[in-house]
Amino acid sequence: MRTFIKNIGTIYGILPEGVMKKEGTEMNEVLSMDNAHITVSDGKIESFGKMEEISTEGEGYDEVIDAGGGFVMPSFCDSHTHIVYAGCRDGEFRDKIDGLSYEEIAARGGGILNSADLLHRTSEDELYRQSAERAREVMLMGTGSLEIKSGYGLTVEDELKMLRVIRRLKEDFPMEIRSTFLGAHAVGRAFAGRQADYVDHVCNEMLPAVAAEGLADFVDVFCDKGFFTPEETVKILEAAGRYGLVPKIHANELAISGGVQAGTAHGALSVDHLEQTGPEEIEDLKKHRHTMPTMLPGASFFSNLPFGNAKGFIRAGLGVALASDYNPGSSPSGNMRFVMSLACIRMRLTPEEAFNACTINSAYAMGVSDIAGSITPGKRADLIITRTLPSFAFIPYSHQTPFISRILVKGQTVSIPALQK
Ligand code: NIG
Ligand code: FE
Repeated sequence: MRTFIKNIGTIYGILPEGVMKKEGTEMNEVLSMDNAHITVSDGKIESFGKMEEISTEGEGYDEVIDAGGGFVMPSFCDSHTHIVYAGCRDGEFRDKIDGLSYEEIAARGGGILNSADLLHRTSEDELYRQSAERAREVMLMGTGSLEIKSGYGLTVEDELKMLRVIRRLKEDFPMEIRSTFLGAHAVGRAFAGRQADYVDHVCNEMLPAVAAEGLADFVDVFCDKGFFTPEETVKILEAAGRYGLVPKIHANELAISGGVQAGTAHGALSVDHLEQTGPEEIEDLKKHRHTMPTMLPGASFFSNLPFGNAKGFIRAGLGVALASDYNPGSSPSGNMRFVMSLACIRMRLTPEEAFNACTINSAYAMGVSDIAGSITPGKRADLIITRTLPSFAFIPYSHQTPFISRILVKGQTVSIPALQK
């Protein structure tokens, strides 16, 4: 199957082969080409160039798409989500409005444990149905690569149930999906008051069961005040390392937790949240360039937390990735365009920095930047074709104005009827 996309006003996000991420001042660069075309073959970008350099209008192709002067950009990569959950937590929304903090809600037995109770009572098929709705929702908002975590099971059986649902989503959706085992998201109810025993349970019972079925690509721990300590985190990461699972860590959302250092010391691909960081974290990340700092402004927005110091990280020469954290408690949205806007408005990133953070750097943070995250021949043809827009900055600026005219995932046009199974 070969597709010809013609009359592209501007292509944004071109990268030469081999660029896996951007750091420091590179983050402010977005390579573009005006009056362009792109060819797609078997789900991959084949080539791109100027319209005037070609003699064909698309003859010989199976499909011709007229971009009508709209932009083409790579799809968003969302490297941190929890979209597999049952029901929602709209009841806690009222507690939040009344002034209770995320930690206070959790301490009352709400929060993650609430979602775990509901997930326990939900069948695997029903969990799949609800999760597929969310996967469909984010794909229609322009996400082409998606990381999904477990962590609302908190028992061996329920963690496996979540991870099997993620495996089915991988099979059924054209998006590039990666799965992360997050058994240490909270202490399961059966282990209340016995946190050390729960950590042993994660290491000795959950991890072997997850590994036996090959259900996880990564391992995560919620290393934060009131959740898991750096020592417990290290124990889990070391156990997971024996199964070849690379860490992606929840760190420094609620306090300076030591999670960044626990993650970097164990080869984490990303350390995520980072609402609370100081110079020590920046210095540590400068020494561990393999680890991508990832910020989740949707969680800061919804949970009234500080926004991470993304600008400080970039000024220090580091890269930054952005992700949605789509989950029922702290960020019930997977809208990466809104994430981009929040990064500009509340974290003072330029539209270019925010764009790179939502594409190539978030692709890196989930281990797919060799196949996604930029307009590069050979990469997946995960493309957003926009309406005719006045400028690149219009995308995060006019943040509620519909901007997508067509979405291609793996070279195929995604449409709502096509997704209704
Ligand atoms: O990334 N911080 C930990 N986990 C999620 C929230 C999970 C929940 O509240 O359900 C997060 O914010
Ligand atoms: Fe999260």
